[in-house]
Amino acid sequence: MEIFHIGAECYPVAKVGGLADVVGALPKYQNNSEHIVRVVIPHYDTAFIKENKFDCVHSGFVKLGNFNFPFTVQKEKKDNLGFELYLVEIPDLFDRKDIYGYEDDIERFLSFQIATLDWISTRNEVPDIINCHDHHTGLIPFMMLYANKYEKLRKTPTVITIHNSIYQGQFGFNKLYYLPDFDLSKVNFLEWNDKINSLASAIKCASAVTTVSPNYLNEINNSAYGLESLFNLARHKSKGILNGIDLEVWNPKTDKMLSTNYSTRNFEKGKQVNKEKLCYQFDLDPTKPLFSFIGRLLEEKGADLLPHIAALALSENFKQINFLFLGSGNTEIENQLSHLLASFKGNYNFFIGYNEELAHQIYAASDFLLMPSRIEPCGLNQMYAMHYGTIPIVRRTGGLKDTVIDIGDNGNGICHDQASIVDVCFSIQRAVNLYKDKKSLNKIRRKGMNTDHSWESVSLEYIEIYNLTIIKNEI
Ligand code: GLC
Repeated sequence: MEIFHIGAECYPVAKVGGLADVVGALPKYQNNSEHIVRVVIPHYDTAFIKENKFDCVHSGFVKLGNFNFPFTVQKEKKDNLGFELYLVEIPDLFDRKDIYGYEDDIERFLSFQIATLDWISTRNEVPDIINCHDHHTGLIPFMMLYANKYEKLRKTPTVITIHNSIYQGQFGFNKLYYLPDFDLSKVNFLEWNDKINSLASAIKCASAVTTVSPNYLNEINNSAYGLESLFNLARHKSKGILNGIDLEVWNPKTDKMLSTNYSTRNFEKGKQVNKEKLCYQFDLDPTKPLFSFIGRLLEEKGADLLPHIAALALSENFKQINFLFLGSGNTEIENQLSHLLASFKGNYNFFIGYNEELAHQIYAASDFLLMPSRIEPCGLNQMYAMHYGTIPIVRRTGGLKDTVIDIGDNGNGICHDQASIVDVCFSIQRAVNLYKDKKSLNKIRRKGMNTDHSWESVSLEYIEIYNLTIIKNEI
């Protein structure tokens, strides 16, 4: 079958968070002799674009209300990523350094969706399935069903994969005229709480809804930033599918970003070599347990707790443990984390920013990874950590609950229920005790490394959903 994945990010082309990792990996594992998989994202001003060659396969004008933006569709020449990659270039709107965070994000992503459908609907072939990711592509199912100019795509089933329901792509009805002409009697398929809501529209219109873990699907039936009742209504066409991790990118045996590669057979030594190098670089003590955090510094990730956790744990356990944090986001959290540097020199360090290579090195070098998330639809970091022999310390929520079981229940990590300083510090104390018992520590590390989180079987679950929606559409 011919499958399109449409999203805002795709690793290694453009990445802010886990969405990119999924859109860069799932298609690779679906692309085989039976399926041809094409990924479409906007053309941003990123390094990948300068380092690879592209062919222009389509050009046109995207109409957004009274505006007309010229656009082209560029195909990456060699399918270097293991699937066909298409970038929609709308110079006025997307040739910028950042992916999100502009005042005209609504206009940008709406234009991207319209340009993408303009192109797909002018091709000779009609795709078998369109898999949209998150709200940036949430109006595609509606437009395919009801916009006059996309009549050709009306029978193609759509899937919306929800990576995070906090972000919904809402805007006022004053911008309704941006949309291409559509059957006005269907306007209610755009609306939620008196606004146009891209994610809500996708849930209403898509043939199927997937969330990135089974537990997250259960949670959003009770708590989903105003969309709970809609998720309940869509339950019959919804499925939670746990993300995988891309073992071509995340594998301590082959990872070129590490100082030393290692496997389950020599991980103790391998991790220690990586730890010594990183501790030297960040002025930390490699004989002490290393606790790390990697990710966006947002409240949803519990990152606001980190400065307090580090300060408390270091004053109580002073000189017993090390912390190393990597991330950027909320400036207040960044400032608080920077302030700690002076007080806990030698036991604490912080790198502000996004740094893929350093992230790999931290997974390899750390003993424990903190994930005190308030919301975590799936979470990939705990899986990367386990695969690199690092024990996750997580709050039981979303996909973290599906993947991490407490060591007290013969599991693979340390769990707590509240996103609170006390709960996390108590977990750190348990980790320090575990660290002293090398035999148990290594048993749990080995267990994590042996857990199968590969995409192979997961990608088949998606294919199964596609097949079901195709059959349903044919009836
Ligand atoms: C979002 C979610 C995260 C998930 C990722 C990939 O970033 O917050 O939990 O792992 O998408 O699906």
